[in-house]
Amino acid sequence: MSAKILDGKALAASIRNDLRAKVDALTASGRRAPGLAVILVGDDSASSIYVNAKKRDCREVNYHSDARHLSPDISQAGLLEIIDELNRDTQIDGILVQLPLPDHIDPLAIMDAIDPNKDVDGFHPYNVGRLVLRHPGLRPCTPMGVMQLLKHTGVSLVGKDATVIGVSNHVGRPMALELLLAGCSVAATHKFTSNTRDHVAYADIVVSAVGIPGLIKGEWIKPGAIVIDVGITRDENGKLHGDVEFEAARERAAWITPVPGGVGPMTRVSMLQNAFYALERFHSDGSS
Ligand code: GUN
Repeated sequence: MSAKILDGKALAASIRNDLRAKVDALTASGRRAPGLAVILVGDDSASSIYVNAKKRDCREVNYHSDARHLSPDISQAGLLEIIDELNRDTQIDGILVQLPLPDHIDPLAIMDAIDPNKDVDGFHPYNVGRLVLRHPGLRPCTPMGVMQLLKHTGVSLVGKDATVIGVSNHVGRPMALELLLAGCSVAATHKFTSNTRDHVAYADIVVSAVGIPGLIKGEWIKPGAIVIDVGITRDENGKLHGDVEFEAARERAAWITPVPGGVGPMTRVSMLQNAFYALERFHSDGSS
C-alpha cells in the first residue's frame, strides 16, 4: 500500500478562499471584516517567521490586522495593559500573543487575561474547559486543523482507536479531547510511557506531536491507518523533519500528512476560522 497524501497546504488554501468570499460578502453588506491583533514580543527568529505568515494570511482573506511588535524588555504589566486595550477594542475579534514569551513574562497570566471570546488560539482555560465539557467554543488551532484533515479523508471516526503521542497543553491534550469528542477511543502516550510502540500498532489514527525526528517507526504503523505528523524539527542543514519515518510509514498507512505542508498550514487557517467565528458568534451586534 502507498498512502494517500493529506495535503494540508491545498486544503488550507481552499478554506482561505472560502473565508475570503465570506468576508467580502460581509463587507459588501456594510459590515466590518474580522479584526485580528497579533502580538510579537522580542525578536525570536522562528516567532517572527510565524507572525509574518499570520499577517500574510490576514491580508489574503481581507481581515483587518493590528500587528504589534513589542520590545523584549516590556514588563508583564505593560503587556497586560495592551491586552486590556485590545479586549475593549470593538474592531478586534481575535488576540494572538505569539509564544514563547521572554522568561520574565508568565504565559499563563497572559493567556488568562485575553477575553475568552477573543481567544483565537483556544488556549484560555475557559475554552479548554468548554472542550473538556463537550461544548467547544474557540478551539485550539492545531487539533482543530487536524480534525479538519481527518474529516477530509471521508473516513468515519466513530469507534476508531486513536493514539496521540505527546501531551502538551496546546496540542496533545486538546487533540485527545477532540478525538474523544469525535467518538474515538483514545490513548495518550508521553515520555513515561513504556509501550508507545504497542499503542501505535493498534491505532487506526496516529497523531504524533513530540518534535523528535523519526520517533515513530514506519514498521509500527497498522496497515490502513491514518497518520498525522504534527512534529516539525529543523536540522542543521535547515531541512524540516516530522516525528514519523515518512517513507516507511507511507508503505503501510492509508493516509499520511507530509512535513512540511501537512498540519502547519491547517493550524494557521484554523486561527483565521476562529476569528471569523468570534466575529459572527460574539461581536456581530456592534457592541464589541
Ligand atoms: N507559537 C508557536 N505556535 C503558536 C501558536 O499556534 N500560537 C501562539 N500564540 N504561539 C505559538
